[in-house]
Amino acid sequence: MSTADDIAKAAELLAAATRPVGFTGAGVSAESGIPTFRGAGGLWEQFRIEDVATPEAFERNPRMVWEFYNLRRRAVFQAQPNAAHTAFARLEEIFPAFVLITQNVDRLHQRAGSRRVIELHGNLCETRCTNCGRVDDKSGVELGDLPRCEACGGLLRPAVVWFGEPLPPGAWAQAEEAANRADCMIVVGTSAQVYPAAGLVAMAKRHGAAILEINLEPTPVTPLADVSIFGRAAEILPAVVDRAEWMLQSGRGSRVP
Ligand code: OAD
Repeated sequence: MSTADDIAKAAELLAAATRPVGFTGAGVSAESGIPTFRGAGGLWEQFRIEDVATPEAFERNPRMVWEFYNLRRRAVFQAQPNAAHTAFARLEEIFPAFVLITQNVDRLHQRAGSRRVIELHGNLCETRCTNCGRVDDKSGVELGDLPRCEACGGLLRPAVVWFGEPLPPGAWAQAEEAANRADCMIVVGTSAQVYPAAGLVAMAKRHGAAILEINLEPTPVTPLADVSIFGRAAEILPAVVDRAEWMLQSGRGSRVP
């Protein structure tokens, strides 16, 4: 099938849904200039996970961990949402029940206008005090190499989930519920290698959701997917959403918009 056929099929499945869910990874922000983790040019080629993204690394060398996160924070604050982020925000307008589950920590979905976003891995905007637990939004703020809590002077950490740490329980419960209720899941820009997040796709599938995938290359999601479209998220997702919206407006979807 050609890409145009795949887009048409994905749009048809989406237009037939009433409770679609999005599930995104780093690839959705790649065209905003934010590096992904795996693959050529990915962050894990330059940095070792165990040096910068585990609680043990932070205990051993908080300065090095903060250096890594300050670099990433600067990149994210300078970046702009792209057409894929905007397309997800439109899905929220088209489908009142649409929920977006993201592994991304860059908050670009929210900056593009998405309101119902479940952040599975935390975010780079906020800090959390390792002593008193206070959480502050430090979007756009330069933090220095060992930032301290304004309330108690304790060492701050980025409010992200590190390897070996549990996911925020509230976010995980909401994500599971959304995946179980979904009748369509649009999986964009994730290598689907990090669990438990990646398990949400099989969960949605078991509960009867159609699975649509957009990625540059095949992933472990591909065998589960009803349609996999191989291409850039910022190009393919807007095309799928445009076509699904047109189908709904012209009465070609299964529900009245
Ligand atoms: P990865 O870096 O593992 O995967 C990014 C995926 O996006 C790959 O499958 C690419 O093929 C795809 N991709 C790249 N550019 C794309 C584009 N323009 N359009 C569409 N797809 C594109 O990122 P994640 O799957 O998000 O966890 O990684 C999951 C988790 O592992 C992250 O949340 C992070 C990481 O280590 C933590 O930090 C806990």
